[in-house]
Amino acid sequence: MSVISRETFFSIFGSGTFTGEHPSFTGSDVEPLLAFSRTFLPKTVIEIGIQRGATAKCILVNSPWIEKYIGIDVTFDYKTPLTIQQNEVPQVPGEYVKDDPRVQLIVKPNGTRDLTPADLPAADLIFIDGDHSESGVLLDTLLARRVIRKGGIICWHDYGNQVVPGVKAVIDSLNEGNHICLIESGQLCFQFCREGR
Ligand SMILES: C[S@@+](CC[C@H](N)C(=O)[O-])C[C@H]1O[C@@H](n2cnc3c(N)ncnc32)[C@H](O)[C@@H]1O
Repeated sequence: MSVISRETFFSIFGSGTFTGEHPSFTGSDVEPLLAFSRTFLPKTVIEIGIQRGATAKCILVNSPWIEKYIGIDVTFDYKTPLTIQQNEVPQVPGEYVKDDPRVQLIVKPNGTRDLTPADLPAADLIFIDGDHSESGVLLDTLLARRVIRKGGIICWHDYGNQVVPGVKAVIDSLNEGNHICLIESGQLCFQFCREGR
């Protein structure tokens, strides 16, 4: 795994600071996402595991250039493969952003497990933060790699989170050519994708 210090990351990609509180799930890891948004001006963004939409709201409020933000999640009765993730399943997926006209919510009984690449548009930025089981991270990464635009960015959250070790294990196994990079002192990693739609 390549590693970049936070200081170097923000000096290259620009500031990710914003006014307001950090979203509870991503915390300060929302700042690299915002830095990418401000630098690359993505038009289409996909978030796998939008939950109530706290990170989505932060990104959307600070990124007026985003035209479409697709948030994917499961229905409230979904049983997560990892027991520890059960209390993350929201009653109302995307409730913080549902009135933003740029937002399209895709809520399925099994979330991304019910989707194929044909169900999604080509995206400039994909944020993977859904099912943290090994099979979930694998499936979401393969889906994202089929949907990302050439030159787009895939980001994963919870890399190195010891409560969900499968995230790191699977990302490491998919890190051909060592193109995935971790931002130090956090749990966000990213890859610029030369291959894509
Ligand atoms: C860690 S939370 C996401 C937090 C959110 N990204 C944020 O920053 O506010 C994980 C989310 O993934 C959702 N999830 C679990 N399995 C999923 C699946 N197969 N497809 C899509 N979403 C899934 C959960 O319901 C939950 O909302």
